[in-house]
Amino acid sequence: MKTYTLSVNNKTIKVEAEPETPMLWVLRDYVGLKGTKFGCGMGLCGACTIHVDGQAIRSCQTPISTLKANSKIITIEGVSEGLHAAKIDHVVQNAWIEEQVPQCGYCQSGQIMSAVALLKANPNPSDEDIDTYMAGNICRCGTYVRIRKAIHSAAK
Ligand code: FES
Repeated sequence: MKTYTLSVNNKTIKVEAEPETPMLWVLRDYVGLKGTKFGCGMGLCGACTIHVDGQAIRSCQTPISTLKANSKIITIEGVSEGLHAAKIDHVVQNAWIEEQVPQCGYCQSGQIMSAVALLKANPNPSDEDIDTYMAGNICRCGTYVRIRKAIHSAAK
């Protein structure tokens, strides 16, 4: 076990963990943030997407020891607090609600994390940009058409 100091949703926290512990389990089991979901555990589905220093990453494939000491981690809970900038976070959340995107909802925190990262990098994405960027986020309910609509609506 080693002690790590992390910045999670703008709060500094200390966590004792084995170096190889994936950030997914650090967040869920040690920090108590359950919004980040376990889907495949293999980097294939996107349910576990979080932001580290502004980049969308797969937390199931990111051991705690690979983070830099002062890395800024933002989770879906941070999006609901508007930590990126309330405008983009809340605009994306509201678009998700208005377009009634979720069906079962399980993958949607990962979808929203990817959508926020996409819109920060590309504020006015085309259908192709959206499909390419979001391709790593799988939705078993097939909400892709509504996801695309919500991203366009958030981009306006
Ligand atoms: Fe991490 Fe599927 S749980 S990509």
